Amino acid sequence: MRIIQISDTHLSAAHPHFAANNEAIRTWLAAEQPDLIVHTGDLAMDGAADEADHAIAATWNSGFRAPVLSVPGNHDVGDVAAIRPDQTVDAVRLAAWRKHHGPDRWLLDRAGWRLVGLNAMLLGSGHEEEEAQFAWLTTALATDHPVALFLHKPLFIDGPDEGPRGYWTVTPEPRRRLLALMDRARVRLVASGHLHIQRSLHLDGIDHVWGPAASFVCGASQEDLGGARLLGAVVHEFGAERVTSRFIRPTGLDDFTIEPVIDVIYPRADRVLPAAPQSDQGA
Ligand SMILES: [Fe+2]
Ligand SMILES: [Fe+2]
Repeated sequence: MRIIQISDTHLSAAHPHFAANNEAIRTWLAAEQPDLIVHTGDLAMDGAADEADHAIAATWNSGFRAPVLSVPGNHDVGDVAAIRPDQTVDAVRLAAWRKHHGPDRWLLDRAGWRLVGLNAMLLGSGHEEEEAQFAWLTTALATDHPVALFLHKPLFIDGPDEGPRGYWTVTPEPRRRLLALMDRARVRLVASGHLHIQRSLHLDGIDHVWGPAASFVCGASQEDLGGARLLGAVVHEFGAERVTSRFIRPTGLDDFTIEPVIDVIYPRADRVLPAAPQSDQGA
């Protein structure tokens, strides 16, 4: 089984800044024939505020021969209140996601693997759907098959016991719950997006793969998190028990940074620029 992971397209009708990069990924992907495409979130530039961006993203996702499954990112359904008090994940935003992209969590059994898509934006949100998702995940991970998990935010940067990493990862408490559930299953792959960085880390039997973005990378506004700030995609080849993941670099990509246009694309009254690196960026 071959799965192509794409991420962070940040599609928008109003702000075509990343259209050339989106098109380079689309052209390459349209010529590929994977068994499945998984989009690990931030499909839309600002779907959390403007449903029109969801419509654009849904159309973009429908242009491939292979089926596409997506999980939501912060720019699709909002974030936890501690990170974005002005744009929290809520019922209206979740409903808009489901209208345009289908379920925000999903499970698929293919080629001897269980593939699980999670809504990372619920983790730590306190929204009633968070507990519902944990209950669902408990059942989803009750399987003898090896498991691959797809979600927008990585669980951690350097290791499972680290403290809060602000904007960039799942927060420690839901991370702990998630890892405890994962311990019951043979999880082999955790594939995420959000950081606009490509990196692969093998830890405790699990490959943690950060899928690169298809839009922009972060510059000075993102602290050094390791990995490579390059655009692209990931090809995951599923064997009997392990996944081999390769970063792909389609032609025509330009790794430009978000900072020169961030106040045009994501205007926020509370943003202070220029500033020392901080964790409220556009990834
Ligand atoms: Fe994100
Ligand atoms: Fe993003």
